[in-house]
Amino acid sequence: MEIFLDTADINVIKKYKNFIDGVTTNPSLIAAINGSTTYKIIEEICDVISGPISVEVISNTVDEMFVEGKELAKIHSNVCVKLPCTFEGLQVCKQLSQKGISTNLTLCFSSTQALLAAKCGATYVSPFIGRIDDIGQDGMGLIDEIVNIYDVQKIETKVLAASIRNVNHVIQAAYIGADAITLPEKVLSQCFYHPLTKSGLKKFMQDWNNKDQKDNS
Ligand code: E4P
Repeated sequence: MEIFLDTADINVIKKYKNFIDGVTTNPSLIAAINGSTTYKIIEEICDVISGPISVEVISNTVDEMFVEGKELAKIHSNVCVKLPCTFEGLQVCKQLSQKGISTNLTLCFSSTQALLAAKCGATYVSPFIGRIDDIGQDGMGLIDEIVNIYDVQKIETKVLAASIRNVNHVIQAAYIGADAITLPEKVLSQCFYHPLTKSGLKKFMQDWNNKDQKDNS
């Protein structure tokens, strides 16, 4: 499973660069970075990470999104153009795919949207688990459904589990067979942690230091 970091913060990306295959951004994440342009932020990320970097269009019409998507793709060959799972976004997906530009279809909340994304040649489709859970529905159930449909239909579009809120989401997405997952820093940092690792290490160090004291007495 590819692991992406869901941030536009270059310092966070540098900190975790040895553990990630790429980065996903969105307009909210880019807007949180002060004093830079989208283009500069993405160039900087592409200098640090050699995998897919998802960058979302901010225009609305098919024509505008198509032009914007082509401009974003010019920043670096690793840029994956993020488009909304809408009537317009899906058409742009088809146009960009025909030009060999990678795409990530975002804000996916149903299997029919995922089917259409695949039909339009999407590289990735991003179902938003957390936001589905937030409205009392089953986000992980949607991942499971799409993974199975893609498997039965022999679809090559990759399922990218997004809107991840906790480590349990990470484990379940991996277990179900999501091709990729994108994690906010908060969740990625939790993936390293286990209380027994911490207490076990503390005990090992205490025992080692006690041995030193005994040897020197
Ligand atoms: C994915 O590409 C999105 O940027 C992200 O996962 C959205 O997560 P959120 O629902 O926590 O904002």
